[in-house]
Amino acid sequence: MRSPQTIVTALLLSVSCVSAIWPIPVTISTGNSSLWLAQDVKFKYEGPKDSDVLTTSDICERAQAGSKFSTSIGAFVEKRINKAIERTKEDLFEYNFVPWKFHPRRTQYEPVDGGKEGSIKTVTLKLNKLDPSTKPKVGEVDESYELQIDENGAATISANSSIGILHGLESFKQLFYKHSTSKDVYTPYAPVKITDKPLIPHRGLNLDVARQWYPVEDVKRTINALAMNKMNRLHFHVTDSQSWPLEIPSMPDLATKGRYFAGATYSPADLQGILDYASDRGVQVIVEIDMPGHTTSIAEAYPELIIAKNRQPDWPLFAAQPPSGTLKLGDDPKVNEFNTNLLNDLLPRLKEHTSYYHSGGDEVNAHAYKDDPVIQSEDPQKIQPYISRFVNHIHDVVRENGMSPVVWEEMVLVWNITVKTDTLVQAWIDAESIKRITEKGYKVIAGSYKHWYLDCGKGQWLDFKMKDFDQFYPFNDYCAPVHNWRAMYSFDPLAGLTDEEKKLVIGGEAHMWSEQTDPASLDSTVWPRASAVGEVLWSGRLDAAGNNRTFEDASQRLGEFRERMLARGIQATAITQTWCHMHKGDCTFWQAGN
Ligand SMILES: *[C@@H]1O[C@H](CO)[C@@H](O)[C@H](O)[C@H]1NC(C)=O
Ligand SMILES: *[C@@H]1O[C@H](CO)[C@@H](O)[C@H](O)[C@H]1NC(C)=O
Ligand SMILES: *[C@@H]1O[C@H](CO)[C@@H](O)[C@H](O)[C@H]1NC(C)=O
Ligand SMILES: *[C@@H]1O[C@H](CO)[C@@H](O)[C@H](O)[C@H]1NC(C)=O
Repeated sequence: MRSPQTIVTALLLSVSCVSAIWPIPVTISTGNSSLWLAQDVKFKYEGPKDSDVLTTSDICERAQAGSKFSTSIGAFVEKRINKAIERTKEDLFEYNFVPWKFHPRRTQYEPVDGGKEGSIKTVTLKLNKLDPSTKPKVGEVDESYELQIDENGAATISANSSIGILHGLESFKQLFYKHSTSKDVYTPYAPVKITDKPLIPHRGLNLDVARQWYPVEDVKRTINALAMNKMNRLHFHVTDSQSWPLEIPSMPDLATKGRYFAGATYSPADLQGILDYASDRGVQVIVEIDMPGHTTSIAEAYPELIIAKNRQPDWPLFAAQPPSGTLKLGDDPKVNEFNTNLLNDLLPRLKEHTSYYHSGGDEVNAHAYKDDPVIQSEDPQKIQPYISRFVNHIHDVVRENGMSPVVWEEMVLVWNITVKTDTLVQAWIDAESIKRITEKGYKVIAGSYKHWYLDCGKGQWLDFKMKDFDQFYPFNDYCAPVHNWRAMYSFDPLAGLTDEEKKLVIGGEAHMWSEQTDPASLDSTVWPRASAVGEVLWSGRLDAAGNNRTFEDASQRLGEFRERMLARGIQATAITQTWCHMHKGDCTFWQAGN
């Protein structure tokens, strides 16, 4: 029953609007009663066990598929959910925030300390069925969830997969606030009913850890933030021309010679730790070793495999940025052997946790292949068959390991390579790339440097000679100006596509290239701008009525979500000034005549 106190609180709360839940759910209805969360709240897991659902032949099939969890998907799911429950309690009681910023000064927006509102003592987590896999491919897993809190404090999250439960817990956390004068947390929104599911299955961030060195803890913190945003892919761009930080035990020179300094490497244990940490949070890590361009760091250990290495000062003729250099093609047996050995060392360590491997393929420089002893030509038509065999060889090894490949758009749009249909083709240039990839019938990971690049727009990292000063002043880079969160939020990867083409847009990623970002500014460069991409991918740029989502709504919710990221140790930047959050709607630009 609601006590008189609840009613008083409800009256005071009537001025506040719901600014919870980022990304916005498919449907959400909230009330205006407050409920406390009991300090000893129990999360009760109700789900099927392996023995309930798996026949012996299922178990054998899974074992043959090679997963170490094969005989026990139920145990995997239960472990994942139990860990998520522990994190949920910590986040609710230790890493929460007082939302004073989202209410006008001097309003009584929270229940009175020690008030007699009801409380939530148990949260039931109902899993309707076990996950199809520990590392579901696009389209294989149902990420939907339903969340209900009634006025008496009965709370339930139900889902058809463990990742659905994880998403439901993230939304649950966003309904609760820390109290300003007590240790308790409360929701002002009871009763709550949410039904939710993502629009697009692959929602990721591409993190370049080769141009700058990032310690493991930075990668893990980023994975944490991805999970908060209901993003489920970390694209780990782990090597490039500048450095090779990935230890490959059977080829130790690669990292010992290609790393920036001793210590700046990911050991097999570090990599396993990252994969495990991500899997616990429902994030698949897609490792990319970009080839055949972006490979100069290989020359530190294997100089015979790289042509046009660090040409100076004429590097712009050979590469998009220094140091130039590209892997030999020419059906060179040494190159194929290198790739086979590399992948057979790496992929078995990835395949427990991820169904995808990214073979790269962007910005291949034709001019450099004049230096290839077999090809001796910069004519793309002459180079094409060699690239085709090179890429397909890598993809064969990927498939032999039970995984599917990802490639950058140039492989199919510039080099006309035919890849198998399990391949995901990643766009980075613009909306036209997305369209052209789908026209070819391939599944596409949407992206656009004109909208979803986080790194650039801040100005050049190259130095200019004083004689060229006037020509380049004020030293803008290729994607200036910086894409602010509103610009990122405005990009609809589905715009201009037919219904058939839209179905092929299975993913999207924001990109964190690291020319000018390192651990010191990682969080503030990525967050909360990547959250804007996260909402477009989860909820869609358009609302249910087909209208563009508005900045007035988004800025309030994103502002609140940003406070949650701060509370959980992610140094996300402010999205507007405090007064604007306090006065929702009063910071909308008014143009005379409109
Ligand atoms: C609380 O919500 C109920 C149901 O929507 C509504 O009838 C009531 O007027 C609200 N009370 C306040 C104080 O806003
Ligand atoms: C689970 O699957 C059922 C049956 O397909 C569907 O009706 C429901 O919406 C799904 N999601 C949840 C959260 O139950
Ligand atoms: C790829 O196809 C396009 C369009 O047919 C053509 O213009 C281009 O030359 C081809 N590229 C290569 C490398 O063959
Ligand atoms: C959404 O905004 C974009 C960019 O301004 C515009 O081109 C598009 O027509 C809008 N869509 C709708 C449905 O209003």
